[in-house]
Amino acid sequence: MTEHFREVFYGELSFLVFNCVYEPAEDTFLLARNLVVYGGERVLDLGTGCGILAVLAAFKASYVLAVDINPCAVRCARENARRNGVLEKIDFICGNLFDPLRTHSSFDLILFNAPYLPVEEEPKSWAEYAWSGGRDGRRVIDSFLERFIEHLKPGGRLLLVQSSLSGIERTMSTLMDKGCKAEIVDTIKSFFETIALIKAVKVQR
Ligand SMILES: C[S@@+](CC[C@H](N)C(=O)[O-])C[C@H]1O[C@@H](n2cnc3c(N)ncnc32)[C@H](O)[C@@H]1O
Repeated sequence: MTEHFREVFYGELSFLVFNCVYEPAEDTFLLARNLVVYGGERVLDLGTGCGILAVLAAFKASYVLAVDINPCAVRCARENARRNGVLEKIDFICGNLFDPLRTHSSFDLILFNAPYLPVEEEPKSWAEYAWSGGRDGRRVIDSFLERFIEHLKPGGRLLLVQSSLSGIERTMSTLMDKGCKAEIVDTIKSFFETIALIKAVKVQR
């Protein structure tokens, strides 16, 4: 199949972004510039889009699993892993959040630049899944928060991007209820929203 694409650069790396896929934006770069991965870690990149965060993680991680509900994103991410020489470290799966994962599959680090915008209508194209968070902007985030903890190792970290338009404080309090220490590690402010990068660490018991 012939794909139409743009090319996006991050440092010296280049990524193809197929037309049906989210183009890396300020929220992507907020997470990218705060991404710390230690040698040998297992990383889950949820909603991988063009795969930029999965590729960056794969330079240090021993294994990355990249998941997206958009089949076009999964094809695009695989192509970018190949272009950037990390294809052998990343598996790609198309599916909804944790559905495609085995029950006991757990990670040192989970990344999610989530769809967080409040929108009235259901997504009508694959591209719209990138930002569509349902009426209150929390449809995907709340499903994610229900299940992430079982896939995080004790001491494991979560990096989650979210907007003030969809309740950052509510997310912080849910993370703490789930047994995590949570903090906002970086923000981008505009006149209508703050985009926050939340870091949560699963407390070891
Ligand atoms: C804001 S984009 C982020 C893409 C990429 N990680 C980045 O930072 O540029 C959100 C991504 O999540 C995916 N997505 C939305 N809902 C999803 C779900 N329920 N399960 C898996 N992926 C989902 C979208 O298709 C989209 O690729």
